[in-house]
Amino acid sequence: MQSPTASPHRGSWGTRLGFILAAVGSAVGLGNMWRFSYVAAEGGGAAFVLLYLVFVALIGIPVMTSELIVGRMTQVSPLKAVTKLGGSGWAPLGWLFVFCGFGILSYYSVIAGWTMRFAIDGIRGAIPQDTAGYFNAVGTRMPAVVTHVVFMAITIFIVIRGVKRGLESAALILMPLLFLLLVGLAIWSATLADGGAGYAYYLKPRINELLDKQIITDAAGQAFFSLSLGMGAMMTYASYLQDKQSLGREAVTIALTDFGIAFVAGLVVFPMIFHFGLGEAIGLGGTLNTDNTVGTLFITIPPALQSLGRVGNVIITAFFVMLFFAALTSAISLLEVVVAAAIDGWGWTRFKAALLSGSLIIVAGLPSAYNLNFLAMADKLVGTFMLMLGGLFTAILVGYYALPQAEAELAMGMGTASLRKAWANIIRFLVPPVLFVVLIFAVPSVIAAVRALLGV
Ligand code: PHE
Repeated sequence: MQSPTASPHRGSWGTRLGFILAAVGSAVGLGNMWRFSYVAAEGGGAAFVLLYLVFVALIGIPVMTSELIVGRMTQVSPLKAVTKLGGSGWAPLGWLFVFCGFGILSYYSVIAGWTMRFAIDGIRGAIPQDTAGYFNAVGTRMPAVVTHVVFMAITIFIVIRGVKRGLESAALILMPLLFLLLVGLAIWSATLADGGAGYAYYLKPRINELLDKQIITDAAGQAFFSLSLGMGAMMTYASYLQDKQSLGREAVTIALTDFGIAFVAGLVVFPMIFHFGLGEAIGLGGTLNTDNTVGTLFITIPPALQSLGRVGNVIITAFFVMLFFAALTSAISLLEVVVAAAIDGWGWTRFKAALLSGSLIIVAGLPSAYNLNFLAMADKLVGTFMLMLGGLFTAILVGYYALPQAEAELAMGMGTASLRKAWANIIRFLVPPVLFVVLIFAVPSVIAAVRALLGV
């Protein structure tokens, strides 16, 4: 049934599973593999992983619950939802969401393009031994532009097909496939000699690092990026919900699945790094040069697997094909935020909205395709800082301007009053101060990324 406020161009999910898989598909992406592994390696391994888990549980799940509440309650795009709840003064938050979707997808698509390139060259057995050189050749400039454009074209195509046929059926097929491939790789990794040192780095925290400001910021930022929070993606997906299921339970399901996949990805990557002696190449525990950092996964995984000969090539291909699928379901949700805003805000058709905004995003991605420092800067500024800013204001909006309605919405499907109370208290009294402090911690790394870009 359509809600009375829904515009005729909107859609809705066919099944509860379809929604969950699409939301998990949004959360699970390059963030879990490309980003998680390099940020974890950079930030002390296990200390980062532990802090990340704490942020997911204490901040991520309550913020995600808030986004789901706002989406299902308002049944409109995030752009309209925030003003519907808080009045016209909240419009900038809606625009921040749209800007984040636009900005993140512009560089996300470049990285996703690399996964396509590596998958295709993996099939052809055409990835040379010198992956650093190869990455530099195909990861920037014209080759990167080509794969970026192709990836965006696929994303636009799926988003045009709409909620049920496009988003839902893509997720239904891709997500289970991804999970199977990943578990297979983790099992293979477990058979590697010297993998133990990798597990230790990954799983045994050094206590002093738990208080490191940089690691705290990285962990918080990673929680937002990986859970697709702070920019209305979850809000948008929840706005296509008609069923009154428990949103608290959905948030926990999505967050734990996302964490589980990132965690398994770590179980794949860290033993490999130690077994193949790649620690130095990716600067474990030290400060990394951004140029190499963003390419870490792409530079390290293929040589590791090539040592296996023919089988290795099959695994490399499987790995990047999987990463491509994961990236695709996330990219769909990023574009969907922008498209939903255009459909609701200006009454555009889905076709026009997806085609026009997608084309603009292609253009906006060009600087990232040409300059990896630009990509890294965009990831710090938009993919970390702005997401946390969006999360902070979402918590304030829901906790201080719309709490009674939000609690009533949450009560539909979630019977336990004490849990609802806990959620409300966390959203009001824990999330805003914590995010405020973390945002301040994050300023130096944004400045550092801008300086690296400008070469000063
Ligand atoms: N969560 C996605 C990932 O981990 C990226 C993403 C961020 C998607 C924000 C949507 C919104 O790759």
